[in-house]
Formats: sequence, structure tokens, C-alpha cells
Amino acid sequence: MTLLPCATAIAYPNIALIKYWGKRDEALILPMTGSLSLTLDVHATTTTVSPDARLSADAVEFNGTLIDDAAARKVAVFLDLVRQRVGSRVFARVRTRNDGPTAAGLASSASGFAALAAAAAHAYALELTPRELSRLARRGSGSASRSVFGGFAIWHAGQDDASSFAEPVQAASLDVAMVMAVIQAGQKAISSRVAMRRTVETSPFYPGWLHQNPLDLEAMQQALAAGDFTRMGELTEANALRMHATMLGAMPPVRYLAPDSLRILDEVAALRQRGVPAYATMDAGPNVKVLCQRHDALAVADALRALLGDVGRVVVAHAGPGVRVCEAEG
Ligand code: PMV
Repeated sequence: MTLLPCATAIAYPNIALIKYWGKRDEALILPMTGSLSLTLDVHATTTTVSPDARLSADAVEFNGTLIDDAAARKVAVFLDLVRQRVGSRVFARVRTRNDGPTAAGLASSASGFAALAAAAAHAYALELTPRELSRLARRGSGSASRSVFGGFAIWHAGQDDASSFAEPVQAASLDVAMVMAVIQAGQKAISSRVAMRRTVETSPFYPGWLHQNPLDLEAMQQALAAGDFTRMGELTEANALRMHATMLGAMPPVRYLAPDSLRILDEVAALRQRGVPAYATMDAGPNVKVLCQRHDALAVADALRALLGDVGRVVVAHAGPGVRVCEAEG
């Protein structure tokens, strides 16, 4: 087998409208329930993988700095999966650049592992269908399975490794925007992996989530097919709050939402009262993303900027593309 010396891939984060929260299998990253997301067009991750027979270990560079921490070990473990498949023992140099904040509940792991999966598969000459690439990305971070695809994507919970993958979902004439209020760009205090496990193991509300989430997912697919933005928005906000409710019930409780998150939730409700259909969603961090229609995005962004003043940063995103390998030299 000839190794390509280098492959670069670019991927974008996705924000779940119907969330993934809880694993059935921690090693394979099989989720308890399915989820559905929108891939964005901002905060890209660009990753280059260069296998090099002279290396005695993987060398991981993040935003220009060589790192040797838990994140670097995750990258090495992920590359092992790829090497096992092709029977390679060659380590690689990995260079990653994140345009957005990292590990702040803004889906950096989704873009990160989608880009790493595509670049590594290409660099080690592992030929994969988009579905297989989604399954591979899932092994790095569950939500990464969805960033393989652009626009709306559904990640099927599945039964096993083969049946747990994401695929695109068609939406009837919907042109949406996601306005992101970044109130904390630093790393979250508790990782989603730890918070999920604690929720599954200790929250008395988790069985309610297992009952409700498949219903929310089904309703969301219907709303998308019908192009019913109001229904989509209502489901998005309710589902996010349901997810946070499960973790508030954990022991010890997990609370990602900050006072500014709640102020934004109030402002989003006020926007609706003023006739602007806008709906909030929050992930494993205090930052709030507001789903609205493209023609309302600037009004929503202005309202959030006025509310946050110097405290935060507001970024307007739209539907973005799936992962792509943008360069391969060999
Ligand atoms: O893929 P992870 O481990 O980063 O988990 C992501 C979990 C949420 O962002 C909170 C929800 C989701 O579906 O993206």
C-alpha cells in the first residue's frame, strides 16, 4: 500500500435541534436515542494528517502548538482505529486549526472529529462511503457523525456499530439561520462525556427523556418535511430544555446554563412576543444558539448584541456543507 503523504479535510460544527444525550455503549459511542442537527457555515475545523514512517508516536498540533494531553491521546486512539483497518503501523503528524472556540459547547468536537476522520481515512487510503465515514467519525465524538453531512442530518441510534450512522434529511423550502451568542468561549467545566454518564446513571428524569426524545425526533422530521418553521422552533427549544432538565436531576447536578443564558432565553421569548419567530437551544455549555429564519437573523443578532453589550459575541450562521477533503498531495 502506498501512503499519501498528506490529506487535509475541512468540517463544520453542527447544532442539534433534537439532542443526543446519553450513550448505550461507551466504547462504540452508540447513543441511547437518535438526534437531528443543522450543520453550520462558521467555525470550521481544518485538519491535516501526514503519516510519516520516521515518527515513533503521533505528533498532534492544535492551533499551531504541539500538544500532549488528553485531547492528543484521543486523536492517537482515533488514528489507531484507522490504522487497524488498513493494517498500518505508521504514525502521523496531525495539524488542526479551529476557527471557533474549543470545548465550549459550540460543537468543536463535531467539526474536529469529522475533519480528522475524513483526513485520516484519506491519508491512510481507507476508502469509505459517506455512511461509513459517519460511523468512523462517531467513534471520535458522537455528534461528529452528523457533521459529515451538510444542512439537516439525522443520526439514527441504531442497534450496533453498523446501524448507528447519520444521513442527510431533506427539508421543505426552509431557509434558517442560527444566531449564536457566545458568552463563554473557554472550556466547559465538565465534559459532555462525564455529564452524560452521570445523567444516565443518576437522574430520575432520564427515563422521561428516553420516552420523549424519539417522539420529539419523529415530530421534528414531520415539521421539516412540511416546512413548518414554527413547529420546528417549538420542538427545538423544548427539546433543549428537556435535555438540561435531565442533567439538573443528576447527582451531583450538572448545570451548564449561566445567568446570561437565562437572560437570552427571556429575550428570545420577548422577540417572539414582538412577532419575530425565534427559538433557543443550548448544549453542554452556557452559550445559546437562536434558531430563526434567514430574513430575521439580523434583527435577532441586534437584540442579542443589545442585551449582552460587552459581555458576549454574536455570530450569525446558516446551513453549511458536509466534510470535504480539500487537498491531497501524493
Ligand atoms: O458528541 P459529544 O460528546 O460532543 O456530545 C454532544 C452532546 C450535545 O452537544 C449536548 C448534544 C448534541 O446532540 O450535539
